[in-house]
Amino acid sequence: MEDKLEQLRDEAVGAFQNAEDNEQLEQARVEYLGRHGRLREAMASIANLPEERRPTIGNLANRASREMEQVYQQRQQELAQQTAAQESGERIDVTLPGRASRVGRRHPLLATLDEMIEIFLGLGFTVAEGPEVENYYYSFEALNYPEFHPAMDEQMTFYIGDDALLRSQTSPVQIRVMEQQQPPVRIVAPGRCFRRDTVDATHCHTFYQLEGLLVDEGVTFADLKGTLEVFAREMFGPSCHMRFRPDFFPFTEPSAEIALTCIICGGEGCRACEQTGWMEVGGSGMVDPNVLAGVGYDTEKYTGFAFGVGVERLAMLRHGIDDIRLFYSGDMRFLAQL
Ligand code: DAH
Repeated sequence: MEDKLEQLRDEAVGAFQNAEDNEQLEQARVEYLGRHGRLREAMASIANLPEERRPTIGNLANRASREMEQVYQQRQQELAQQTAAQESGERIDVTLPGRASRVGRRHPLLATLDEMIEIFLGLGFTVAEGPEVENYYYSFEALNYPEFHPAMDEQMTFYIGDDALLRSQTSPVQIRVMEQQQPPVRIVAPGRCFRRDTVDATHCHTFYQLEGLLVDEGVTFADLKGTLEVFAREMFGPSCHMRFRPDFFPFTEPSAEIALTCIICGGEGCRACEQTGWMEVGGSGMVDPNVLAGVGYDTEKYTGFAFGVGVERLAMLRHGIDDIRLFYSGDMRFLAQL
């Protein structure tokens, strides 16, 4: 009987210690310590022993029972600690503030450029592109700049080699397009330009232009003005007016500076427009016959107009922004507002 009790105890201890989860532990408990379990069974059989043996065996049985109970409780605690540790690792704290996913958006400059292009697409223009690294011929010579002409001063740019420079305007695209096709030509050329300007609130070494070119039979200055007026109204609404003033560009004759009603003050005069009520946004003119002849067009048959508009200027007007540097700051607080 002693042996039997010892064996039972050892078995039970083993079963409790090997239990891998609460379920297994509970099964073991029922088997050994349960009301109909094996310990009870063994204890019941004590009654059948001769009377003088009963106290010793009874004590032994009680001790075995205590030991089994102890091991059972110990294992129960271990398992409880394990689950608590696991749970705390993965626990979701519903009181923490949520992490909103950030949604990307178009940069205000490119959004403005897209809007501009959209208007010209509606007028029957198509989009053309050219390289940001240009050579002297497309940048100046083909655009009718005489050598050492002072008009090149305002186009001071960055040279990569003797004949490789970062384009200072989108006008070279005009030449590249006309070399490839015969009239009618009706394109807009959006793109990045570069100049060795000192950076301030209205100048940046990198900026965007939208170039326009239309060449066909019978194109007049009235077509240029009408086209730009439609563009200005589409962009800024019917109260936006356009002002033309004589200007000079080697590749247009005559040339005109384009100014729009200052959107910020509505034309009343404010700091942004230096009290004039107008904002200069670009240049334009009738394509110089020298340029057309240079690409082999018949200048007796064809005339054309061209224009170049600063995208930053328009984006600043559109959003009431007073510093061009903000576009290139990468400041998410600025970008998220527009
Ligand atoms: N490219 C000129 C500039 O950056 C702007 C310009 C003027 C473009 C007249 C034109 C034009 O196409 O006809 O200053």
